[in-house]
Amino acid sequence: MIDIDRRDFIASLGGVAAVGLMNHETRADEIEDELNRRLQLAQAPVQAAESSGFPTAAEVDAQIATRSYRRGTGRNFLNTDGENVARLPPMPASPTFLDFFELRFHSNNHCLQSANKAMERGVDEEIVLACLLHDLVQVLMRADHGYWGAQLFEPYVPERTSFAIRYHQALRFYTDSEAGYEYPDLYRRIFGEDYVPAPHIQADYAMLRNHQWYDAPREVTVSDLYAFDPEAVVSIDPFVDIVGRHFRQPKEGLGNDGSTVAHMWRTIATPDAPL
Ligand SMILES: [Fe+2]
Ligand SMILES: [Fe+2]
Repeated sequence: MIDIDRRDFIASLGGVAAVGLMNHETRADEIEDELNRRLQLAQAPVQAAESSGFPTAAEVDAQIATRSYRRGTGRNFLNTDGENVARLPPMPASPTFLDFFELRFHSNNHCLQSANKAMERGVDEEIVLACLLHDLVQVLMRADHGYWGAQLFEPYVPERTSFAIRYHQALRFYTDSEAGYEYPDLYRRIFGEDYVPAPHIQADYAMLRNHQWYDAPREVTVSDLYAFDPEAVVSIDPFVDIVGRHFRQPKEGLGNDGSTVAHMWRTIATPDAPL
């Protein structure tokens, strides 16, 4: 059993305000990460004295078999605090993006903050939209979420918007001080301090450095960094017109339009379907 001081523990998660701002799933993840870190430190006091406080990639790997679920699982498919999942409200017959946003994309606070930051920074609407959408697919799948997210939205948004969503995942691993992006401590904690990005991420980064649209996913990462403001009060309202202008809503409803990604929308709408 590890002895934990409550105030010290909350401080290590970023303080009361930061903890209060986290949605349910994020808070559960952060608490789990912090408990795992403390468990490792308690088990290895000598190494801890010399370490940075971040786990190594090998230590992160060793945690896999300590959980009843895999970390890449979509957030709407499990409750990481061990309690039961809730019944979901019914969806309208022809659901729009805004219906999904309200009824199924529960981890949307961070994306709203990111879109607010992008708007404050004066970036164009295609990229504000990318920020609004950039992590939403994590309700369905967290592993490789940039690629899943781009695929989910691709038939309905401008090409530059889905490009920004796809490649923000890769650029999160690479500092660009000139653009205002530094490698985050959050990644040292969740991937391990000596983590080396996967080959497809390295290859995409090399491609992006010479791409005319490099700035698009880079802007998503910059606005991502500042999307954890404990004072922020967020709403979809400032973005409804941007969604109206740039999101090509199918008249049959998302999931009913026969597109190549309709099944992804249906799975988000009905995650309780047994098959
Ligand atoms: Fe992301
Ligand atoms: Fe994000």
